[in-house]
Amino acid sequence: MKTIITFGTFDVFHIGHLRILQRAEKLGERLIVGVSSDALNIQKKGRAPVYSQSERMDIVASLKCVDSVFLEESLEQKAGYIRQFQADTLVMGDDWAGRFDSFSYLCEVVYFPRTPAVSTTSIIEVIKTY
Ligand code: CTP
Repeated sequence: MKTIITFGTFDVFHIGHLRILQRAEKLGERLIVGVSSDALNIQKKGRAPVYSQSERMDIVASLKCVDSVFLEESLEQKAGYIRQFQADTLVMGDDWAGRFDSFSYLCEVVYFPRTPAVSTTSIIEVIKTY
């Protein structure tokens, strides 16, 4: 059974999130998603996500294309998560192109083109103008 793994915040869930998960699922038989913790986002982006980690995990876990979710608590643990879930392929959006190539000794690394013109940040900006 081929296992696919991907990571992300998936805050204010949008069509770009859905598309990458649907495409990732097609590469194998099992899709595992690491949802980044609130603490990791505060550390990385300087702000807390709009939706809490448990809400974001529930939303992603409810998708037909996703088999299971886990909380990504440390960016340095990626290799550990890949091993733990015995992932054959790591999928990321091409905003990360090249930045995960160092894991290719553990699994195949695939970058998908981002869905154009949508991001959590842009949605938050649009809502702020109302
Ligand atoms: N993604 C995508 N297309 C988009 C937005 C995101 O394919 N338009 C992918 C990212 O490349 C990543 C995953 O979805 O692999 C999770 O991305 P995330 O950072 O949670 O979403 P963004 O909308 O990019 O969030 P932000 O604006 O906060 O950076």
